[in-house]
Amino acid sequence: MSAAEYLPPRQTITALRKAAAGCRGCHLWKVGTQTVFGEGPRSVALMIVGEQPGDQEDRAGHPFVGPAGKLLDRALEAAGIDRDSAYLTNAVKHFKWAPDQRGKRRIHKTPNSSEIGACHPGLDAEINTIKPRVILALGAIAAKALFGPKTLVTKQRGRVITTPLADAGFVTVHPSAVLRAPDGERAAAEKALVTDLKKVARYLAKLST
Ligand code: URA
Ligand code: SF4
Repeated sequence: MSAAEYLPPRQTITALRKAAAGCRGCHLWKVGTQTVFGEGPRSVALMIVGEQPGDQEDRAGHPFVGPAGKLLDRALEAAGIDRDSAYLTNAVKHFKWAPDQRGKRRIHKTPNSSEIGACHPGLDAEINTIKPRVILALGAIAAKALFGPKTLVTKQRGRVITTPLADAGFVTVHPSAVLRAPDGERAAAEKALVTDLKKVARYLAKLST
């Protein structure tokens, strides 16, 4: 079972979005509230791929609208990238979570390889339809899903990654990792994220000249 069985025959973003809403390609459709599909212009230079929707994204049905999304917005702006000019999506499109001990909060659970694999045909279809020039992975889950299991964010961040999926791939840390950094390290972690994003911005600028 995977998202492949739910892909529409004609792959437009509208058709893919509709199909994804009814996807039962893995058990996560029962865990999350709704499918959180990618968003952005239909034809873009930059696609940004996160891990999976978080608590707020799951409720709203839109990617990167919670705290990590706010931080990403700020970092993109600092790097001179307009969020609205990028297509934002996730490697896994349902929120995986478990209740905390008191049963009050929904705690993010990292998707496992079978869930990531099940959702991958949907991500591939998005890439093939949008055809971005540059794909940026946020964090290890997206980086490995896109550029292979050997991809290491710490080693490859901010450098061009050769990929058949686009002219160039990039990886950087997930904005949630910046939010989780200890107090004394958070500012530096955000700065390092912006530095990586500036390299993406520079690559994009070269493409359009
Ligand atoms: N984190 C992600 O990876 N994606 C979102 O959409 C929100 C938070
Ligand atoms: Fe389908 Fe992906 Fe949701 Fe699993 S996580 S049900 S594969 S959209």
